[in-house]
Amino acid sequence: MPRPRVLSGIQPTADSFHVGNYLGALRQWVALQDTHDTVYCVVDLHAITVPQKPAELRRRTRVAAAQLFAAGLDPDRSIVFVQSQVPEHTELEWVLACLTGFGEASRMTQFKDKSAKSGADTASVGLFTYPILQAADILIYDADQVPVGEDQRQHLELTRDLAQRFNHRFGPTFVVPGPYILPEVAKITDLQDPTIKMSKSSSSPQGIIDVLEEPGSIRRKIMRAVTDTDGEVRADEEAKPGVTNLLRIYSALSGETVGSLERRYAGSGYGVLKKDLAEVVVDAFALIRERTEKLLANEGELDRMLADGAARARELAGATMARVRDRVGFLPAN
Ligand code: TYM
Repeated sequence: MPRPRVLSGIQPTADSFHVGNYLGALRQWVALQDTHDTVYCVVDLHAITVPQKPAELRRRTRVAAAQLFAAGLDPDRSIVFVQSQVPEHTELEWVLACLTGFGEASRMTQFKDKSAKSGADTASVGLFTYPILQAADILIYDADQVPVGEDQRQHLELTRDLAQRFNHRFGPTFVVPGPYILPEVAKITDLQDPTIKMSKSSSSPQGIIDVLEEPGSIRRKIMRAVTDTDGEVRADEEAKPGVTNLLRIYSALSGETVGSLERRYAGSGYGVLKKDLAEVVVDAFALIRERTEKLLANEGELDRMLADGAARARELAGATMARVRDRVGFLPAN
């Protein structure tokens, strides 16, 4: 029996992943290698839906890939590659775009949020079609499951709809994938405004903890995290979003349940909780940081690993595209 296939992607739009990316997605990516056939990509094509400086994009793509390997993706067990090095993604995207309703694409909330920020008139068409490219990323590998955070749920629903629509119109072609979302870590929130998700685009640096951040800076940010005034260490998303977020991060990184943490810190106040959490976070990221630096010190080898990943990805993607071309009625590519 072949193992079920997992596909996911992450954007290279910052100098480091943050704790939301790590807990909401990346940690599951690593764990799923034990039970699934895993394919992961750095989605540079998605990154250019908003303006990027070429040299910075190139650097951040390598930093992203290095962090993936450093966090535990094993090139012998996973296919890890850069999206733009597998041109079949954009080829399939066009076909899927022709099956997507304009109104349907207009309802995507991430597009609405992002375009509202830049002004609807200056938002690119690429930003508009972003979720269709994401659907192509997933469907081209016949993925069964897609490990992501809560913010990607709507894009996965579109992906399922497009797979079903294509299958209905042209005959069974795509696997209809499901989301793999762990509720405890699906939405890590901002340290300064714990009612919004932690995000590189919608927050001040004080609200975000980066995986590659200096220990001193991690400690300072956690100590200054916004909580509340009742002083009780207890998870309650509505009434105590700040403390709840800290407990969730603590629990996810230490393996201790939120209930056990509540009991252990009952009566000790937020200062003690924050101090201990800071050490848990620093310890969790120390090795990733060190390994990332090592990988980046040998760019040639890193590029070679990615070229190898892209070659393996292209074999799978090419086979799907041949199937798609035939179903749609295109002549064979060669
Ligand atoms: P991106 O690059 O914004 O984020 C990468 C992953 O991190 C998750 N995430 C979070 N999880 C919990 N709490 C948070 N605060 C938080 N912030 C981010 C995201 O849900 C995501 O899983 N569109 C995708 C990239 C993509 C993709 C794909 C994903 C492109 N193609 C195919 C899956 C499959 C994105 O922008 O993720």
